Amino acid sequence: MVEISVKVAVNGYGTIGKRIADAILKTGDFKLIGVSKYSFDYSAILAVKKGIKIFVPREKIEEFRSNGVEPEGTIDYLIEEAELIYDASPGKQGVKNKELYLKHGKFAVFQGGEPPEVAEVSYSTLCNYTSAIGRKYVRVVSCNTTGILRILCSLNIKPTSVFVTIVRRASDPREDTRGPVNSILLDSYTIPSHHARDVKTVIGEIPVTTASVVVPTTLMHVQVFQLNIDQSIQLDDLVEQLGKSNRVVFVDPYYTDIDTTGKILELARDAGRTRNDVYENIVFTSTLYKQGGSISFIQAIHQESIVIPENIDVAYAMLNLETDVFRVLEKTNSALGVGLIKDLISMVGK
Ligand SMILES: NC(=O)c1ccc[n+]([C@@H]2O[C@H](COP(=O)([O-])OP(=O)(O)OC[C@H]3O[C@@H](n4cnc5c(N)ncnc54)[C@H](OP(=O)(O)O)[C@@H]3O)[C@@H](O)[C@H]2O)c1
Repeated sequence: MVEISVKVAVNGYGTIGKRIADAILKTGDFKLIGVSKYSFDYSAILAVKKGIKIFVPREKIEEFRSNGVEPEGTIDYLIEEAELIYDASPGKQGVKNKELYLKHGKFAVFQGGEPPEVAEVSYSTLCNYTSAIGRKYVRVVSCNTTGILRILCSLNIKPTSVFVTIVRRASDPREDTRGPVNSILLDSYTIPSHHARDVKTVIGEIPVTTASVVVPTTLMHVQVFQLNIDQSIQLDDLVEQLGKSNRVVFVDPYYTDIDTTGKILELARDAGRTRNDVYENIVFTSTLYKQGGSISFIQAIHQESIVIPENIDVAYAMLNLETDVFRVLEKTNSALGVGLIKDLISMVGK
């Protein structure tokens, strides 16, 4: 077997960037050469303690040194050294960072907070792995969009229409200045919300409508799915199709008592997941409901980690390392332990 070791860098070491960095450390095929830090805080110290090299803007070198962290070099140097850069900067900053990647002629993976035009392709593994093969700039779509696309692209059937009601978390746990604190906020003022547009950047014009509200929680998003279909399909067949990739996991609240996002995160803790991450869509089996030509269910999506497997998969495509999406799924799932939650669930319930 040919050994691969591609040098990658993470530009933006926040919620998503930290997780991408940890995931890279778990793969055998990619080598993390460093991460960028723009402002000094405890996470720079912890990264160094974990053996991760820190690169900073030239004008910040002294600030980091005076806080006891010796940077390995400048961000410009990090970009020059890497073959592929994960841009996990705050939304809309990636477009500006692209100039740097262009200047150094490097491959770059952007995140869902960037406009689709930043990349050649908007991406979600189960939908369009092959369209990312050999591409220099790819955008991995955001958390809710990934949750929706994993469902739609696992199905053998083509729904005539889809309606998803999204109940969004207000902020990530550390973003304690964001809200709402005690209200339910309209996410988009319109139906469809922007998520439907984002879904279409990956799979084209299909009749998907989304509505989204924001609620005062930090833990996960919840999506209420309604698939309208012409063909006759039994719920068991649907479950089989959705479960194929291990990226969708079924949890029965009757048998497991897991009926909240908090309990799902507790399950991730019990599974020993880094940062309590839940890489899988969690579909509550008891909510699966068929009425005529319409199937509904409720799923939970862990916003901080759901996009991490797709970020790893896409590197195999962009760098032309693997053309077979199933082999890639196997590699990433095994490196990150995707499937572990499924195994745990099968031990404790149906
Ligand atoms: N959080 C989620 O739930 C989620 C889910 C899916 C996708 N996304 C997308 O992922 C991207 C990153 O989001 P996030 O939640 O990880 O943001 P975040 O937690 O705010 O982290 C962004 C990091 O970017 C760094 N940064 C500052 N200026 C930068 C620059 N000029 N270039 C590169 N990095 C810079 C900051 O580093 P310092 O700390 O050193 O200042 C900060 O830690 C966004 O596009 C977002 O839409 C987020």
